[in-house]
Amino acid sequence: MRNRWNEPLGSEITSKTVWRQRRQLLSAGALLGLGLTGATRPGFASANTPESSDLRLDATLNPTFSVMDALTPERVVTGYNNFYEFGTSKSDPARYASAMQTDPWSVRVEGEVLKPKTFALEDLLKLSGMQERIYRLRCVEGWSMVIPWIGYPLSDLLKQVEPTGNAKYVEFVTDMQPKAMPGLKSRILNWPYREGLRLDEAMNPLTLLTFGLYGEVLPNQNGAPVRLVVPWKYGFKSAKSIVTIRLTEKQPVSSWEEVAPHEYGFYANVNPEVSHPRWSQARERRLGNDSVFGPSPRATLMFNGYADQVASLYSGLDLRKNY
Ligand code: MTE
Repeated sequence: MRNRWNEPLGSEITSKTVWRQRRQLLSAGALLGLGLTGATRPGFASANTPESSDLRLDATLNPTFSVMDALTPERVVTGYNNFYEFGTSKSDPARYASAMQTDPWSVRVEGEVLKPKTFALEDLLKLSGMQERIYRLRCVEGWSMVIPWIGYPLSDLLKQVEPTGNAKYVEFVTDMQPKAMPGLKSRILNWPYREGLRLDEAMNPLTLLTFGLYGEVLPNQNGAPVRLVVPWKYGFKSAKSIVTIRLTEKQPVSSWEEVAPHEYGFYANVNPEVSHPRWSQARERRLGNDSVFGPSPRATLMFNGYADQVASLYSGLDLRKNY
């Protein structure tokens, strides 16, 4: 896989045009089941067609799992990031992540499973049909974005390894590359970055194992080559650059939960009614779309607007205690 950061902008211009056309079709309700980029086979496109580059990732838009909100400009999605392995400033990941090695890459899936296995990235890319899904991502810090992700449900991978009856949770462990990641020297978190979900959350069809955005493979700063996207939870649950997925009987401890348990809970469901101890979560600013001046203009929605799909996962659970 080529490192996307060195790539010229030409391919981005095409991809934005294509995206605009897709959005028009989507609003016309014409897209069900249609292979929009002309190919539904997952994997990287060959580099010799006029419109393609080796960064392109073909996928079929899934309108059922896509919101109609205006897309966040791609330059914001790839230029304003949280990836603390590269530093705490929002511009650090775009500046430094090109040094991260993403080829070769493999993901070990282990723990409470009948068939533990190490998946080479090439095999992961072919494991299921690639879908494009336009999801909201709401950060705990009060900003949000709308991103056309490419991937497939995490459940497609988990089914392959056959979880045992003891499996109740899924832990995600992300990569450490000390030479490339200056942030690993800081004590802000106990590295590696770890996140977790309950097994039923992990199996929910919204939970996406993600390989690309905006029609192309993930830029390093967005978590190349494979990350999680859990759109009804605060952004920190969406672990980047994953190397191990471990099914467990006990609830795993997430990195942010470990260092600040009163601020960051295991569940981290987007919830406008439960404040962070230091700020309200009731409103948000859509980066690239909303003015940077004045108070946050948008009301945050329960479960980030995905209540119909996920509220039933939490019936009987006190969401104030389990924040
Ligand atoms: N994954 C790793 N490995 N390291 C991180 O620091 N930050 C999280 C999450 N995944 C983080 C991570 C946080 S706080 C957010 S808001 C999202 O990534 C940001 O994703 P984005 O930069 O693609 O918008």
